Amino acid sequence: MSINPKEPSNRRDFLKFGAVAATGLGLYAVSAEAGPDPRTLKLLGTQEIGATRPRPAGNKPVWDLTTKPLEKVRCGYIGLNRGRGHVNSAANIPFAEVVAVCDIVEQRAKGAAESVKKKTGKEPAVYFSDENAWEKLVARDDIDVVFISTPWEWHVPMALKAMEMGKHAFVEVSAAVTVDECWQLVDASEKYQRHCSILENCCYGEEELFVLHMARQGLFGELKHAECAYIHDLGKGVLWALGRDWRRNYHTFMDGNLYPTHGLGPVAQYLNIGRGDAFKFVVSVSSPELNLTQFRDKAQPNKGRHKDEKFVCGDMNTSIIKTQLGRTIMIQHDVVSPRPYSRINGLCGTEATFFGYPARLAIDAGNKHPLLDPLEKRNSHEWTYEKEKLTKFMQANCHPLVTKVGELAKKVGGHGGMDFILNYRMLDCVRQGITPDMTVYDAADWSAILELSVRSVKDGSAPAQCPDFTRGGWRTVKPLGIVS
Ligand SMILES: NC(=O)c1ccc[n+]([C@@H]2O[C@H](COP(=O)([O-])OP(=O)(O)OC[C@H]3O[C@@H](n4cnc5c(N)ncnc54)[C@H](O)[C@@H]3O)[C@@H](O)[C@H]2O)c1
Repeated sequence: MSINPKEPSNRRDFLKFGAVAATGLGLYAVSAEAGPDPRTLKLLGTQEIGATRPRPAGNKPVWDLTTKPLEKVRCGYIGLNRGRGHVNSAANIPFAEVVAVCDIVEQRAKGAAESVKKKTGKEPAVYFSDENAWEKLVARDDIDVVFISTPWEWHVPMALKAMEMGKHAFVEVSAAVTVDECWQLVDASEKYQRHCSILENCCYGEEELFVLHMARQGLFGELKHAECAYIHDLGKGVLWALGRDWRRNYHTFMDGNLYPTHGLGPVAQYLNIGRGDAFKFVVSVSSPELNLTQFRDKAQPNKGRHKDEKFVCGDMNTSIIKTQLGRTIMIQHDVVSPRPYSRINGLCGTEATFFGYPARLAIDAGNKHPLLDPLEKRNSHEWTYEKEKLTKFMQANCHPLVTKVGELAKKVGGHGGMDFILNYRMLDCVRQGITPDMTVYDAADWSAILELSVRSVKDGSAPAQCPDFTRGGWRTVKPLGIVS
C-alpha cells in the first residue's frame, strides 16, 4: 500500500499545532517533536501479508515461558494518560513497586510520581521533557516490567527496546499497527525470552470472565460462532482533542478495523485461539466515511484547523474471521456514529448463546448442565436468563479472579474494576514466574486484524490470510484454563 507523506494531515503538523494550541488553555501541551511517523509503517501486499515467516535461528517459543519467581515486581511506566491508571493499580498491589515513570509532558510524569508517593510513601524516578527520555527508563537495571501506554506508533519501538534491555514489555492496545510489527514483537520476545503481553483489559471484565468461566465449564456445548466489536462514539470529543491528533490521523490513511482487540481479545480466549484453534482468514467491508467529515465541517473543532483533512476510514467496518476449525467471528469497529457503547460480546455454542449489551443468556431446552435448574421452562423465543435473573446467575457462577480481587478492583476502579484485575493478574503471573494469560502470540494475533482488515477492504473484501505467529504451535499449545 502506498502512503503519501505529503498528505495535508501530517502528524508532525498536528504535534506542532498541539504544542502551541494547548499552551495557556490549562491543557497539557504535547511535544513539538515528531515521533515515528505512522505513514512510514510498512504495510504488506496481498501475497506477503499472510505468509508465516521462518523462526530466526536461536529463537525459542515463549508460549510456556517461565521466569524466576519474584517477591516484588518492579515496574516502569511510559505514557501517563491511560498509563496513569496502570500506575494507580500497581500502587494498590502489595507485591508491585512503581520504580519509574515517564511522559514527554512534565506535569504528567511528576503528577503520577506524586500520587505513588502519597499512596506508598516511596517516590518513583521521573523522566520527561523529550520524546527519547523513555530510553533512560528502559535502561535501568532495577525494573522487571515496562508498561507502554503511548500513541500506537511508539508501541513497537518501545517494546523492542524494553525486551532487548531484559524487561518484560506490557503494551497497550493495539500492541502493534501492522503485521510486520507483530512479527517484530514475536521475534524479539522469542529472542530475548521476555514476555510481550497486550494489556487487553476487556479480557478481565466481570462479564467476559463469567462467559470464559462458563465456556470452560461446558455450559455452551461446542463453540461455533462469536460476535464482538468496539463501538464507542469518540467522534465528537476524543478524536478531536488536542494532543490526541495521532489517533484521528489513522483515519486519514487506513480504512478497516482500527481498534480490534477490545472485542476480539475475550472471544479469542473463549475460542482458544492460538491454543487449539487459530485465525485462518479475514474478510472485511467498510461503510462510507461520513461522521468525522460532517462533524468537522459543522463544528469546525480547534478553530477550523482541520478543514483540509481527508478521512478514508469507513464509519462502520465489519469483518468476519474464519478459524482453522471452521468457526466464525464477526467483529465491528465504529467510533463515530451516534449510538451507545458496545463490545457485543456474543458467543454461540450448540447448547447456549450469550450476548452482552445488555447481558442475555439463552439455554437450549435439552441442556442438562449441572449448573442449571432442571425444572426451568425454556423456549426458543425468549432469553432464559436476563436482567435480575441473569445477575443472580452470574454472581453465583462468577470467575475465581472476581471472587478473589473483585471487591478491591471496584474500590481502586478503572473501567468498572477490570483495569485493576488485569494489572493484578498480569503482575501476579510475573511474581509467580508463570506465563501470563496473554502472550506475544495473542498480542500479535489480535492486533494483526487491524492491517488484515485494511488489506481485505483494499482488495475489494477478498480474504486476507492470517499469518501463523505461533508457527504451528497453536496445534499443541494447551488451552488457557480457569485462572484463579
Ligand atoms: N485499554 C484501554 O481501555 C485503553 C483506554 C485508552 C487508551 N488505551 C491505549 O493506551 C494508549 C495511549 O492512549 P491515550 O488515550 O492515553 O493517549 P494520549 O495521547 O491521551 O496519551 C499518551 C501519552 O503518552 C505520552 N507520550 C507520547 N509519546 C511519548 C514518548 N515518546 N515518551 C513518553 N511519553 C510519550 C503523551 O505525552 C501522553 O501523555 C494507546 O495505545 C491507546 O490505544 C487503552
